[in-house]
Parts: sequence; structure tokens; C-alpha cells
Amino acid sequence: MADLKGKVALVTGGGTGIGKGIAERFHSLGMHVALAGLDQARDAANQYHGRNMGGFTAAKSTAAGLGDRALAIEADVTDPAQVAAMTRATIDAFGRIDVLVNGAGVITAKPIEDVTEADWDSIMDVNAKGTFLTNQAVVAEMRRQGDGGRIINIASIAGKLGVPLLTHYCASKWAVIGFSISLSKEVAKEGITVNCLCPGIVGTQMWTLLSQTFAQPGESEADSYRRSVEAFTPQGVPQTEADMADMTVYLATAAHVTGQAFAVDGGASH
Ligand SMILES: NC(=O)c1ccc[n+]([C@@H]2O[C@H](COP(=O)([O-])OP(=O)(O)OC[C@H]3O[C@@H](n4cnc5c(N)ncnc54)[C@H](O)[C@@H]3O)[C@@H](O)[C@H]2O)c1
Repeated sequence: MADLKGKVALVTGGGTGIGKGIAERFHSLGMHVALAGLDQARDAANQYHGRNMGGFTAAKSTAAGLGDRALAIEADVTDPAQVAAMTRATIDAFGRIDVLVNGAGVITAKPIEDVTEADWDSIMDVNAKGTFLTNQAVVAEMRRQGDGGRIINIASIAGKLGVPLLTHYCASKWAVIGFSISLSKEVAKEGITVNCLCPGIVGTQMWTLLSQTFAQPGESEADSYRRSVEAFTPQGVPQTEADMADMTVYLATAAHVTGQAFAVDGGASH
């Protein structure tokens, strides 16, 4: 497996949850890591029940905990100017970008008749358009560098399966997978690989919202979470941030694996 020491990664959503676990693992392997996050969302269609996401504050705290070779950047992945500034800030700090992990994502869970046009637009904006904008900006840099690169877009098992109450979220994650497979073919001859990581259930703040929404009358959030894990996961246990980091490190090093969507989900999907 190729050595990641000294290489540069940009991780969006890098201050919290799965992105944080991946950024910390990369750093522990000797990489330089730029962690992008956003404090104030454009709207409240997300897992935070409001515009205050605290993602940049979290990225600063994670970067401070890592020390040298770590940088926090504030960027909204739905805004092309901020994506361009995020890419530039990473290169200004560390000289290049070898690996992009696109982890920024939002979710809401609602019956179809309650999904508003604004809910649809917001989820598609962050999850699908954010993937397009970050990939477009970083591919341009990788092409300029001329020696390949690794892109890992975090999709979901909701990009492989249909899930009730998640029609808009599933649509956005299927979009991420279709986009990634297409881009992988476009850049394949340049040594740039593009793959998706499809987590199953990882107990991050995203699942706090889902556990509340999926709770049956009188059921606690913890019991709701356990019921979802049992219902979705043949192994009967949730996955961890470390599981996601394991697969991401593999994809960050593998030279001849591209255009794939790898589920790390305890057997939930095919
Ligand atoms: N937790 C799970 O079980 C699970 C399962 C499948 C897929 N995922 C995916 O994994 C990724 C990480 O989720 P997580 O579970 O760690 O939750 P999380 O809420 O901790 O992470 C989401 C991150 O995205 C950032 N973000 C949101 N909107 C943004 C924007 N417009 N610009 C920049 N950053 C923005 C947030 O600040 C946060 O840091 C998401 O794409 C999510 O859809 C998670």
C-alpha cells in the first residue's frame, strides 16, 4: 500500500463525525490535513434543527487538537466562490492536494407529502451540488499538478437502497454515486481515482435527528437508534468512525480501484 506520509488531504465536514474520524486518521499517518466546515447554514433544512451548524467551530477545535499539519477552513460547499477559496487556502498552506474527502452532508426525514421544495433544494444543494463543486475545483488542481489524485465522496447506503421518509436524501446520495462513477471515467487516464464510501449507521449527530424522527410513541432516542440498527444491519451492530477511516485510507492509497461505491454497513446493502 502506498505511503500517505507527507501527502495533503482536504476533508469537507472534517470537524465532526465521520469526516473528523477520517481527518484524524490521515493526520496520524503523517498527512497534512485541511478540515473544512461551516458554522451558519443558508437555511435550517438539516440535522441541526436550525441554521447554526457549528461546523467551522468544530473544525477549528479538531485542527487545534491535531496541532502541526492541520488547518481549519470555513467554507460553504454550496457556494462556488467559497469552494474556490477553500481549495486555494489548502494549496497556500500545504502546496498541493493529493486527496479529497467530500464529507459535508445534511439530512432531514419526512413523509413525502411534508417534503417541501425548500427541503428538496437544500438537501440536493449540499449533498449533490456540493459534491459537484468540490470535485470540480479539486480535479482542476489535480490536473495542474499532473501526478494523479484520490477523491472519496461520502455517499450512503441511502445511495444504494430506498429508505422510507428519506426520498430527498436518497435522491441526493444516488446522485453522488452517479456523479462519481461518471467522473471516474473522465479522469481515469490521468491517474485520478474517484470512489464513494457508503456508510451504513454510524452514531454521529446526524443519527440523533434520525433517531428522534424514527422514534415510536413513548420510545426513547436511544431505543429508537437501537431498533434502527437492528432493522437495517444484518450484523446487528452500528459501524464506527474508525471503520469509515479504514476504507477511506484504502481508497486514498489504491491506484487501480476507481468508479466504485463501497458500503461499510454490516451487510445492509449489496
Ligand atoms: N452517520 C451515518 O450513519 C451516515 C450514514 C450514511 C452517510 N453518512 C454521510 O456521512 C457524511 C458525514 O456525516 P456525519 O454522520 O459525520 O454527520 P455530521 O453532521 O457530523 O457531518 C456533516 C458535516 O457536514 C458539514 N456541512 C453541512 N453542510 C455544509 C455546507 N453547506 N458546507 C460545508 N460543510 C457542511 C457539517 O458542518 C458537518 O461537519 C454525510 O455526507 C452523511 O450524509 C452518514
